[in-house]
Amino acid sequence: MESGLGIRNSKLREETIINPETGEKSVKMGGLTFPPRRVWMKTYGCQMNYHDSLRLLAHLKNLNFTKTEEIEEADMVLFNTCAIRDLANQKFYSHLGEMKHLKKKKGEKLVIGAGGCIAQTEGKHLVAKYRHLDFAFGTDVIDQINDMVFRTYSGDDRFAVNTWDRSSNFSIETKINHGTPQAFVNIIKGCDKYCTYCVVPYTRGRERSRKLVEVVEDVKKLVKYQDVQEVTLLGQNVNSYGKENGENLAQLLYELEKVEGLKLIRYTTSHPYDITDELIEAHGNLKKLSNHLHLPVQSGSASVLKRMNREYTPEHFLERLAKFREVNPNIVISTDIIAGFCNETQEEHQATLDLLTNAQFDFIYSYVYSERKNTRASGMDDFLTDDIRGERLREIQKHQLDLQLHIRKQMEGRTYRVLVEKEKTFKGETKWLGRTNCNRIIHFKGQPETNYKWHWVDLKVLDATALSCQGVLMKDLGTLV
Ligand code: 5AD
Ligand code: SF4
Repeated sequence: MESGLGIRNSKLREETIINPETGEKSVKMGGLTFPPRRVWMKTYGCQMNYHDSLRLLAHLKNLNFTKTEEIEEADMVLFNTCAIRDLANQKFYSHLGEMKHLKKKKGEKLVIGAGGCIAQTEGKHLVAKYRHLDFAFGTDVIDQINDMVFRTYSGDDRFAVNTWDRSSNFSIETKINHGTPQAFVNIIKGCDKYCTYCVVPYTRGRERSRKLVEVVEDVKKLVKYQDVQEVTLLGQNVNSYGKENGENLAQLLYELEKVEGLKLIRYTTSHPYDITDELIEAHGNLKKLSNHLHLPVQSGSASVLKRMNREYTPEHFLERLAKFREVNPNIVISTDIIAGFCNETQEEHQATLDLLTNAQFDFIYSYVYSERKNTRASGMDDFLTDDIRGERLREIQKHQLDLQLHIRKQMEGRTYRVLVEKEKTFKGETKWLGRTNCNRIIHFKGQPETNYKWHWVDLKVLDATALSCQGVLMKDLGTLV
């Protein structure tokens, strides 16, 4: 496999030239020649951002950039930023600040760019404030990265691009993880939900879906030409998929089920309001659909959900969960929780603890509420202190870990089929790590000389705690089942 760009991208503007004497590759774009260069990249935030980073790297490969993990040897440093909570913001700002020293050391040779959610809304400000930043770019111009890099190497003044793609349909080529059987496929971008705490509708824009036929075609090609076996359909709110085209997620899943050679389908992230009966039924009918569902609830209190503009009640959420479990008793469900939303009372907080007990989540991501500029919640009364928020978060996490231990213990003695992703050394011991269909990670040792990467294996779970799971190899099925 070459760059990881979708195979539709056959007519490249970038022309490759190989020096017949040295064998060195250079790339010509317009009047500029690009020698082999290194790019170092830091990604913050969600899967969408990680996916965008892969797209950036795939494009940059066509301009003769390869990825480096060593920032000191980089010719270009790129940040892909996240604006969802203040912590991610602060990390990026301090990292960007530090880059001043590297730029001083390496001089004008080092190019620094910042993209993603912070750059979408703050790009101009970033370029004005940080003199060592060469360019900033928003979330909707990822695929124009080579034009921006070209501008920079052409000697253009420092600039920011944060335009929205106004074309009526969302149509993109799929970029995949280099050489892995797992691929992310973007199906919808943006979000129209406007949860009062959330900055995403402002950093990612309005919802727009790809056409169903295009997505299916893409997946077929990934399976046929790139040996992909597992796809994760991506979007800020995948349950809104297809609305503007008279299509929906359930229809897409039924079509993808038919793709020969595809083994596993995941999708993320969901919004409980848009979960239809048809989609739930698909979880009972479709063999390739993952047994894991991430369904962010945010709070267990009806009044908090109302202040968050989440459009559902805890009862509705629990009813949807019960339906999922009815059609597929093996489904495992995870969620997101925000602790200490504006003016949350002790009773409202208790309602979240109660919901955790009732819902029996497999795991949760939990955060303290973080005020984001220009969101509706930023204008709400909020007398809660950071201490109370922190305390509530710890209480939520502790409660969940107790529940989780009980849930995970039930895995002991059972055998799971997993796709092995990598080897990891922990406390001096090296083990392989694989992911079950239901998205749980199991560690195992295997035979000393065998490379299990991307093998499907059957593992029997010997020991499970709330946070980790140890198994023993029962059967190695190789790279393709
Ligand atoms: N403060 C805290 N958490 C937030 N999230 C989104 N916005 C905020 C915020 N302002 C959380 C939600 C969402 C996840 C991706 O991030 O739980 O589901
Ligand atoms: Fe943000 Fe709500 Fe949209 Fe999720 S659904 S991205 S929390 S606005």
